[in-house]
Amino acid sequence: MKPLKIEQRGCLLLLTITNPPVNVLSIGAGVVSALHETVVNAVGDPSVAVIAIRGDGRDFCAGADIKDFENAPDEVDRLRELFSVVDACPKPVVAMLHGNVLGGGLELALAAHFRIAAPDARLGFPEVMLGLLPGGGGTQRLPRRVGVARALEMMLGGKPVAAGQAADMGLVDAVLEGEAALAWVVARAESSLADRATTGPAAADSAALDVWRAKIAQRPSLGTARESIVACVEAATRLDLKQGLALERELFTELLLSEASRGLRHSFFAERKVGRLPGSEAKFETPTIASVAVIGAGTMGSGIVLALLNAQLPVTLIELNENALSAGVGRIAKAIDRDVAKGRLTNEKAAARKALLTTESTVDAAAQADLVIEAVFEDIEVKRSVFAQLDRIAKPGAILASNTSTLDVDRIADATQRPHQVVGLHFFSPANIMRLVEVVRGAATSAQTLAGALALVRKIGKVGVIAGNCDGFIGNRIFEEYLRQAYWLLEEGALPAQVDAALEAWGMAMGPLRTMDLAGQDIGWSIRKRRAVTQPNRPYSKIPDLICEMGRFGQKTGAGYYRYPDGRTPESDPEIDELVIRHSAQIGVERRVISDEEIVERCVFAMVNEGARILSEGIAHRSFDIDVIYVNGYGFPAERGGPMFYADRVGHAHIIERMNDFRSRREGWAWEPAPLIEWLVEHGETFADLKG
Ligand code: COA
Repeated sequence: MKPLKIEQRGCLLLLTITNPPVNVLSIGAGVVSALHETVVNAVGDPSVAVIAIRGDGRDFCAGADIKDFENAPDEVDRLRELFSVVDACPKPVVAMLHGNVLGGGLELALAAHFRIAAPDARLGFPEVMLGLLPGGGGTQRLPRRVGVARALEMMLGGKPVAAGQAADMGLVDAVLEGEAALAWVVARAESSLADRATTGPAAADSAALDVWRAKIAQRPSLGTARESIVACVEAATRLDLKQGLALERELFTELLLSEASRGLRHSFFAERKVGRLPGSEAKFETPTIASVAVIGAGTMGSGIVLALLNAQLPVTLIELNENALSAGVGRIAKAIDRDVAKGRLTNEKAAARKALLTTESTVDAAAQADLVIEAVFEDIEVKRSVFAQLDRIAKPGAILASNTSTLDVDRIADATQRPHQVVGLHFFSPANIMRLVEVVRGAATSAQTLAGALALVRKIGKVGVIAGNCDGFIGNRIFEEYLRQAYWLLEEGALPAQVDAALEAWGMAMGPLRTMDLAGQDIGWSIRKRRAVTQPNRPYSKIPDLICEMGRFGQKTGAGYYRYPDGRTPESDPEIDELVIRHSAQIGVERRVISDEEIVERCVFAMVNEGARILSEGIAHRSFDIDVIYVNGYGFPAERGGPMFYADRVGHAHIIERMNDFRSRREGWAWEPAPLIEWLVEHGETFADLKG
């Protein structure tokens, strides 16, 4: 298919970008050169009086093709040249917008002389989310058109505006579609372009710049993209267009090559690839899921119900205990009411959501559900008995899912006569907020069941990652190695606040000990007690047990590694610091000064090493599956792309060198390098080079 459809209708030259699925301005696929050449030719063609550019399918254009300039920033110049040819065209050029009009798509529209939008159009600059700035003139043309304050809001907030809003701010000239839109375009044939005044500076607005500078200084994120956007917009108020574009080009190139943007771009593409079943597409029909039953109205169960209701799915909530049921329903109603109070939901929508919920007190009520999610107490026998009951009553094709976070999905499946229909759906808490779901494939889980489970996860707006069945699956298995190092660092000389601060300064949303305080330490304690029976020789630090024995389970008991005088804000507790120091003496470890660098390296490389084992064992199919889990479920900085991407960037030879150093020290046994990392070093490859 040609990337540009060219039609002449009288004096109108109508150009339609046809580059599915989202019409990116691809250089490789020839979109940019076709547009460039056609506009240049039209200038010399006397039969053309006006040019219109639109997009085929659902969207006008979702932007530049990010893959085009991954390692070649100069390629963006091809886009810039196209935009200046459009801008300088002596005949009127009209952008006819609909659907997504993002990034380079909006820059193309801004370079045109007129813009009209269909009511469904959404116009935005999401580059900041990729650690970039609009590098094709957006930072210069947008403030000139809509003013500094609105331009900053659009480029730094990253959220698109609707067609009506765009018209109100003068970003589009009219909201029109169909024949009326075409008639409007044809009428532009008579327009004079002589009085366009877009080359001088934008009107100054230092107050708006200061507001954003203060916001950015408060919380660093997204690399330095936000600072660079402010610098470009400020320049737009001082410099002429040509000088402004030169500065924008320079800062864009810097960002494109930055580690932060590389990490964010990796996260963007990884999230889009992650929910796909490797190698089994289109061999069967993905089951349709129109109704769901959830068993268990505890914190997880009610959070899952909320996530389903928010996606407008009818849900039957089943809970045998009357008090637990009314508490769960109360939590659900309260969360929906909170959305209304915050203006996120209208009263009508809230009522409609609540009306989708039915409550029942017997498992038999799950008989008609397309998919059942069990969220009862985390005990294998309790879960097996629920699945045995489900097996008797669920309809033939139903998907039977367990929300276990650590238990063996195969043993749960064994309680049924249809293990191929059983899958794990490990939601993260709070389930209505956290985007991640590990979709756990048991030994017997069929590809069809997996596809159905993944489709449900997508339908409720979450990111589903396929994980093999093992203790802890992908996320918690890696987290255990991360925590193990954090505890040993305490034994060897660090204190909780230092461990957390070092990792937070490196970018983790929350340090490991604060995370444990938030999650509740009793869960880990009960897992350790279970393991003490099944794996008595498994070594681990006794510090978390000592803290649990004091009844300090974290925030929910008002104290854990920290104390929480206001219930939320952690404060270092001398009692815990003393406990840690005393414990080192008791186990005969001489405490030493530990650097922040050592804390970060040990905690992060422990994740990487376990991640490599998980990959070799096929528990994760691809390294980016692990990255998506860590960025979306464990607060790993998106700017670093995830532990496996980070390892690729740091270099495996360096990681092996550091691991060998750690291996020669206390508890060195834990630093046996995963054979896969050694293999990568030997062959000069990266995790990303491995085929899933
Ligand atoms: N460059 C390259 N590929 C892009 C892209 C871009 N700017 N935007 C989207 N794609 C690809 C996706 O990777 C996906 O490819 P795949 O099908 O091979 O996995 C495909 O287009 C569809 O995108 P997806 O996000 O799955 O569809 P959606 O309907 O959920 O969302 C958008 C559509 C446009 C809202 C979303 O893709 C998006 O936000 N894109 C990024 C826009 C952007 O940042 N533009 C500025 C770039 S500098």
